[in-house]
Amino acid sequence: MLVLGIETTCDETACAVVRDGRDILSNIISSQIDLHAEYGGVVPELACRRHVDTIIPVIKQALLEANVSLSNIELIAVSYGPGLIGALLIGLTAAKSLSLAIGKPFIGINHIEAHLYSALMSYDQPIQFPCLGVVISGGHTAIVKINEIGSYKQISQTVDDAIGEAFDKVGKIMGLPYPAGPIIEKLALQGNPEKYHLKAGYVKERPLDFSFSGLKTAVLYTIQGQNSKNGRISLNEQDKKDLAASFQNAVLKDLYDKVLKASSLHKCRQILFGGGVSNNIALRDLFARNAPHLECIWPSKGLSLDNAAMIAGLAYHQYLKSGKSDPFDFEASTRIPF
Ligand code: KG4
Ligand code: ZN
Repeated sequence: MLVLGIETTCDETACAVVRDGRDILSNIISSQIDLHAEYGGVVPELACRRHVDTIIPVIKQALLEANVSLSNIELIAVSYGPGLIGALLIGLTAAKSLSLAIGKPFIGINHIEAHLYSALMSYDQPIQFPCLGVVISGGHTAIVKINEIGSYKQISQTVDDAIGEAFDKVGKIMGLPYPAGPIIEKLALQGNPEKYHLKAGYVKERPLDFSFSGLKTAVLYTIQGQNSKNGRISLNEQDKKDLAASFQNAVLKDLYDKVLKASSLHKCRQILFGGGVSNNIALRDLFARNAPHLECIWPSKGLSLDNAAMIAGLAYHQYLKSGKSDPFDFEASTRIPF
C-alpha cells in the first residue's frame, strides 16, 4: 500500500511516500531553522506562513522523488497533533483536500506515536511486546509502555520543559544559536562534566517524571551569579565547554536512570527511542556502555527529527487495524493525552 504522509506540527514542512509501513520512497523535509534562529526559538506565526508557502512544493517534490503520481497513492495520512494549532491546520487542510479531491482514504496520526514508530522503520527483528517507548523531542518528553502498535500506557512525562527545549533554552542562555542541542553535544565533547554541579529535578511522589526548569535556572545562575541582576560572569571558551558537558551530563544521566527504572518496573527489555534528542551520540553511548542487557532501538538518520515518513509508516498499521478517519469530522488537536 502506497501512503502519502504530511507533517506540519511545528517548524518542519514535510511530506513522504512510504510503501507498506517501511519502504521509504521519498522523505522530503523543509526545515525552518533559518527563519527562527534569530529569535532563539520557534515563532508560531512565522512558522505558519512558511508552511503555507512550502506545503504544495514539498508534496510535489515527495511525489517526484518517489516517482509516483497522486493517482498511485492509496492512503493520505497527516499528523493532527500535538503541535501548534495554526501549523497543524495547514497540514490537515492540505491532506483533507487531497483525500477529497482524489477520492482516497484519509487518516489522522498522533505525532508522538509516530516518533515512537520511527525506530521500528529500520529494525528487522521481531519486537517483543510489551516494550518501552521513550519520546525525547523539542516539544515532548515521555516514557510509555507499548503493548502493541496503537496501544500505549504513559508511565511518565515532564512537568515543565521538554528535554530538547531544555537544551535549546540553556543554549540561548549561553548565547548559542537555535537549535542548541547538537551544538551543546559538540561543545560537551571537549568539556569536563564534573566542573559544575548540576542536577535535573526530582518530582515529589512521581519519581519517574521529569523536571528540567530548575536545571535551566541553575545554568543561568552559574553564568550571571546568583544575586546579581545584570552582572554576567564572563565564561571563557573552556568554561563554556565545561558548562555544556556538565549540563548534558545531568540531563542524560537523569533520563538514563528513569528509563532504567521504568524498564525494570515494567519488565521491558527492548526500548524504542524517538525524537530529536535521540540523535545524541553521548546518550546512545551511555546506554550501550552501562545497560548492555537492554536492547535500545534508535531511529535511523532522517527519522529522529520531525519527518513525514514516520507519519506515513504508522498510518499503514493504523489503517489496517482501525480503518480510515472521516476528513469532514477530523479536527486538529494541540494536546493529545496517551
Ligand atoms: O523531534 P524534534 O524535531 O522536535 C519536536 O518534535 O519537538 O526535535 C528537535 C529537538 C530540538 O530541541 C533540538 O535541540 C534537539 O531535538 N536535538 C538534540 C540533538 N539533535 C537535536 N538535542 C541534543 N543532542 C542532539 N544531538
Ligand atoms: Zn516531533
